Amino acid sequence: MNGPRVPMIAIDGPTASGKGTIAARVAARLGWHLLDSGALYRLTALACLERGIAADDAQGAAAAAAALDVRFVADGVSMDGRDVTADIRREEVGNLASQVAALAPVRAALLDRQRAFRCAPGLVADGRDMGTVVFPDADLKIFLVASAEARAQRRYKQLIEKGFSANLLTLLHDLEARDARDTQRVNAPLAVAHDALVLDSSHLTIDQTVEQVMSWWGERSGASRS
Ligand code: DC
Repeated sequence: MNGPRVPMIAIDGPTASGKGTIAARVAARLGWHLLDSGALYRLTALACLERGIAADDAQGAAAAAAALDVRFVADGVSMDGRDVTADIRREEVGNLASQVAALAPVRAALLDRQRAFRCAPGLVADGRDMGTVVFPDADLKIFLVASAEARAQRRYKQLIEKGFSANLLTLLHDLEARDARDTQRVNAPLAVAHDALVLDSSHLTIDQTVEQVMSWWGERSGASRS
C-alpha cells in the first residue's frame, strides 16, 4: 500500500452478535470510515435472487459480485440506483448470502472492493474474515461473540421493531445453521484470528461493549505511540 499506513479495527464474529451496531458506533466515535462487509455478500445474494442465479452457480454469483453497482449512504445502501437497505436485511437474503459467501470466486471478486474502504483517517470493518483474510495487518482485532439464544432474541426484537413477523425458534435454528455454514466452509471460514481479543457481549449492553472496544483501542494506539 502506498502513502501513510491507515489504521484499522477489524470486528469479526457470528451472525447477530452485534458486530454491525458496535462497528458503526466505534467508527462514529473515532470519526473513521465503516465497512459492513456482510452487506456486500447480502447485495450479491440479492442480485442473484433477482437475476435467477442459483446458490451453487459460483461463476454466475462471482460475476454478479464483480458487477455490483452499489452506493453506501448514511444508514443505507442503494443498488443499481434504488434503495435496497430493507431488502438486504430479509432473512431469505441473509440465508442466501451465507451460501454464496462460501464460494471462493465470490470472495475473490469482493476482496479489492473491501480493501478500498481503508482510507484516512481510519477504518472499522465488520464481518467474518476481516482480521484473518481481508485485513490481516489490522491494528486491533476483536472477535465478538454472544450465545445463540442471546443473538436470536436480539434478531427477533430487531425484526419485530421493523414491523416484520418473526418466530424465535425458527430464528434460533436459522442462526445455528448459518453459524455452522460460516464456520465449516473451506474458504475463509469464520475463525478467531490468533491475535484477536474475544469479547462476549451476551450480558453486556451496546454501550458497555463499545466502551470495551474503545478502551482496547486506547491501549493499543497509546502503546504504538509510546
Ligand atoms: O454479517 P451478515 O449477517 O450481514 O453477513 C451475511 C452473510 O455474509 C453471512 O452469513 C456470512 C457472509 N459473510 C462472510 O462470509 N464474510 C464476511 N466478511 C461478511 C459476511
